[in-house]
Amino acid sequence: MNYTKILKEIKEEVEPLFKKGKVADYIPALKRVNPSHFAMSLQLFDGTTYDIGDTNTKFSIQSISKIFTYTMAISLKEKELYKHVGHEPSGNPFNSLVQLEYENGIPRNPFINAGAIVITDILASKYKDKTFDKILDFIRRVSNNKKIDFDKEVDDSEAEFGFRNIALVNMMKSFKNIANKTDDVMDIYFKQCSISMNTKELSKSALYLANHGVDPITKERFLSESQAKRLNSLMLTCGHYDASGDFAYRVGLPGKSGVGGGIVAIVPELMSICVWSPGLNSKGNSLVGTKALELFTTKTGLSIF
Ligand code: DON
Repeated sequence: MNYTKILKEIKEEVEPLFKKGKVADYIPALKRVNPSHFAMSLQLFDGTTYDIGDTNTKFSIQSISKIFTYTMAISLKEKELYKHVGHEPSGNPFNSLVQLEYENGIPRNPFINAGAIVITDILASKYKDKTFDKILDFIRRVSNNKKIDFDKEVDDSEAEFGFRNIALVNMMKSFKNIANKTDDVMDIYFKQCSISMNTKELSKSALYLANHGVDPITKERFLSESQAKRLNSLMLTCGHYDASGDFAYRVGLPGKSGVGGGIVAIVPELMSICVWSPGLNSKGNSLVGTKALELFTTKTGLSIF
């Protein structure tokens, strides 16, 4: 497969769409990002990589962090987890409050904000004031890069304007589904969202998910085979919020998006992919990123179906 040629074609075909998306503006620090950025990286099992665009430019990983915190939590206590968070698509926006009240403070899945906040709370019960360091360490391990860090400006902006997230955590606390102090949990959650990475680093970080839980390059195991199956299923059914069906229909791969404009996707037993373009569609997923992945699976025939 000529991946270099395919990436070049994809870039040319998505360029006219750069202005169609809208950069996230509910967190002021994200609003300042230039919407014309585009980057796409492929990471294969033998260490080969293919890249195009601004692949060295870091961006805010936002909700992509949820796959890493869920990996950490599912390895800690899998059965216990299901009392606190489900595994059904929500059919609702990522920051919705409505369903949470009807469903007694138990979020539908760990990839909507409420679910990810519960996961952060579970990690906080285990790791106490070292929780964010543990999350950062974990991401440095999966990316095999000790330099990964968070962006203080984005973190401050998240905390200042995180009104909905603060409402979500308080609602769940009222249903006794949050064990720690809400401020402590949110402090960690906002930091994990503000971690900065580029597409090369993120594609590398998701490789273990394409290989049944084991990084095929370092041979380090991060999840059991069955846990990796579960996490990938969640990415397919819940990774793009109320557009998860649309993403599965168009792309046909498990993937997870973030409002920074990044999307990570995996082709089981072959590669991990990261695409970044900051303009979002109406559901909060990268408009160009989704199109680029759709073109990738169409041109290569590499989907799970
Ligand atoms: O919780 C928030 O509002 C953000 N920091 C993360 C949300 C996010 O990335 C949702 N994604 N598409």
